[in-house]
Amino acid sequence: MSIFNNELVNKGFFKAESFFNDAELADIEENFEIIFKENMINDNTAKLDYVKIFTNKKINRIYEKINKFLEKNIDYDFYLRNIWFIKTQNQNYKPDLPFIPHIDKKRYLKVFIYINDITKDNGAFTVSTNSDLKKNEETRVKWWKENNLNPSKNKHGLLIKDNNLNFEPIEMKKGSIVCFDTNTPHFAGYVKPGNIRKVIRFNLFIDQNTSKIKFLIKKLTLEVSRKLNYLRSAL
Ligand SMILES: [Fe+2]
Repeated sequence: MSIFNNELVNKGFFKAESFFNDAELADIEENFEIIFKENMINDNTAKLDYVKIFTNKKINRIYEKINKFLEKNIDYDFYLRNIWFIKTQNQNYKPDLPFIPHIDKKRYLKVFIYINDITKDNGAFTVSTNSDLKKNEETRVKWWKENNLNPSKNKHGLLIKDNNLNFEPIEMKKGSIVCFDTNTPHFAGYVKPGNIRKVIRFNLFIDQNTSKIKFLIKKLTLEVSRKLNYLRSAL
């Protein structure tokens, strides 16, 4: 398998610099604000649910390139769950999730597209490089067994406190992507005053506890709908 798959399996993430070319990027930048405004749920976040994914031609085109790349390069079985457009500024910071190390309670592959150049100054997504992914999965499954019926605890992450972990801020140019398994400890970087971080995030469902048949039926239904729309939009 590819080096991307090796990195994902061994470290929990991979990055691909300059994934989109200049023309594709210009198109994405132009559409970012339009799609953001149409789907915003607060000042810094917009979310596209299933239906929107199937009917939005622009977002389908962007995702199609990522989907082809992942299908060719990684071993995970996945399907697209939802899409987030995020603009983070200094005032969005809080000493809580997602700005402190955690793994997600629901396991996904997440793919970020960087819409502007991102460095430590404007909140680079930060991920652990030496974590035990198997142990993290055990922690996650144990949490669900113990807390499944307690909705008050239902924030998106489980805090990971481990002084032996190394963390790498993923600094890259706009048009690059980073893909990570949410079992890898991670956090949103601090954005210095006056800066902004713009990303599009694709959440890809990979839950391995779902029965194989259920997973494949769901995947088939969603992917066929999305691909039909993509083909229609490409005509
Ligand atoms: Fe997270």
